[in-house]
This record gives sequence, structure tokens and C-alpha cells, in this order.
Amino acid sequence: SSIDLVLIKDTLVQLAHEAGELIRSKSGNVTFDDKKNAVDLVTEVDKAVEDLVSTKLRARFPSYQFMGEETYVPGKTVLTDEPTFIVDPIDGTTNFIHYFPYSCISLGFAIDKKPVVGVVYNPFLNLLYTGVKGSGSYLNDEKLPLRNSSAKPLSLQGALVAIEWGSERTGKNFEIKTQTFSSLAKDKSEGGAFAHGFRSLGSAAMNICSVAAGNLDCYWEGGCYAWDVCAGWIILEEAGGRMFGGNSNQWETEVDSRVYLAVRGGHGQEEFVKDFWSHIPGELS
Ligand code: IPD
Repeated sequence: SSIDLVLIKDTLVQLAHEAGELIRSKSGNVTFDDKKNAVDLVTEVDKAVEDLVSTKLRARFPSYQFMGEETYVPGKTVLTDEPTFIVDPIDGTTNFIHYFPYSCISLGFAIDKKPVVGVVYNPFLNLLYTGVKGSGSYLNDEKLPLRNSSAKPLSLQGALVAIEWGSERTGKNFEIKTQTFSSLAKDKSEGGAFAHGFRSLGSAAMNICSVAAGNLDCYWEGGCYAWDVCAGWIILEEAGGRMFGGNSNQWETEVDSRVYLAVRGGHGQEEFVKDFWSHIPGELS
């Protein structure tokens, strides 16, 4: 296409720094609403950051669409094939409220619903992840994956796996997650995967970027949205990783499918995914 993806990336990096400054200055000192329930949180800073970002992007690129977490209206906002900015002003809002330094701004850009530019910035640890379709992905100035990590073959036994409890704490999805976590952790002798360990960075974008970097082997989640994954998605792909569906046999998945399995680059990706799926006792939605 004739769209200058590098210009878009550069604009998003500049915005990420500006918004990051605002995010960093407010962390740990905010009031919050219980959006849907007592663990799904939103703050005034989420709204202020989205407002800043959408105003600047609409002024600079008036013909492109914008989708953001805080202005999303269920059943009304639809992702189209048009060039679209897909933005989470603060991914890891719970971290932000608790002053746990893993929140970030996640700025994605998709064409035909496919992520093509991603910028994820954690202003607390100064981690800037960027990816542009066809041009690779980076953490600050270092090309991903780090330390040639994709040279190591993938294996679920011995893997470092990112999981999140999410904000749904009752019902079928909650039971499926709980049983999957248990089966992934359990010893081989009892049919488990015997993964090395589990991490929850509390931000989908931070988890996906860590998989892209090769610091984590995979990340599984049901319940997040396009703005949680769009930017990380292209950063992951450009690092040799891949996004699969989070349910069995979902080899292809969409940015708004809500159930994902992100896997780092390396030999044995498809076997790894099949092995992972075999530990999920039902369909996550
Ligand atoms: C949430 C975080 C969390 C994930 C949830 C997301 P938010 O985003 O990424 O790690 O488990 O699914 O909704 O609400 O902090 O922007």
C-alpha cells in the first residue's frame, strides 16, 4: 500500500513518550472506578491519555479510523478493514493503581484488520518495543528476539509461560483457566506439562512483547480485546513469533477474537501449540 508505515511508527513513538510522561507522573496516586466489577478498573488517567492520543492522531491522520479502550461502545464500535489506530491508553491499569511498574501504553495500527505497526512503551522501566511489518521489531535499539533466544527449540515441558487471571472471576471461563493452569504446572507423572514456571505481568501488551523478545516462551489469554493485543501482535510476528487461537485447532486467529496464544519464534512452534491446547479442558470464550 502507499501508506508510510515508518512515518506512522515514528509518530506513535513520539506520542508514546508524551503520554508515558503523563502516565508515570500519576501512577500510585489515582482514584479509580470499578468498570464492570470490582477487579476491572479504570482511572481518570486512562481517559486523559486516550483523549490526548486520539486528538493528536485524528489531527495528524484525519482519514484513518480510531478505536480505543475508553471510548469503545459494545455492540456499536466495529473494527473495519480501513486503516485503524487501535489504542490502549494504559494496559495494566491494575499495576498502574498499585504502582507495580509494568503498565504501558499500547499503540497499534491495522490495515484490513491485520496489525502492521506496533508501539508499546513502559515509561516506568523505559522499555520501548516497536514493530513495523516487513522491517523487524526492536526493544529500544536492540533487534528482537534478544540473545538469539529462538535458537532454542520450543517445548512446553520446561517453558516459562505467561498467564493472566483476567477480570472474570466466576463461571465457565474461570473454571477452564484454573484447570488449564493446574494441568500446565503439574508433574509429567500425573499427565501435566511440567512447565518451568508462570508469570503474570498484568498487562497483555507487556506479556506479548516479552514473548516477542524471547524472555517468555508463550502467553495464553481469553478475555482481552483488540487494543490489548494489536501493537504486540506485529512486534511478535516481526520477531519470528506467532499468534494462534487460544482454543484447540484455532490455527488462524483475528485481532478481535478475544482468545489468544502467543508463541515465540523457534523450532517446534506447531507441536508446542498442539501440546498447549491438549491441556485446555473446554472452549474459552
Ligand atoms: C488488561 C490487562 C490484563 C489482562 C486483561 C486486560 P487493562 O488490560 O492487559 O493483563 O489480563 O485481559 O483487559 O484493563 O489493564 O487495559
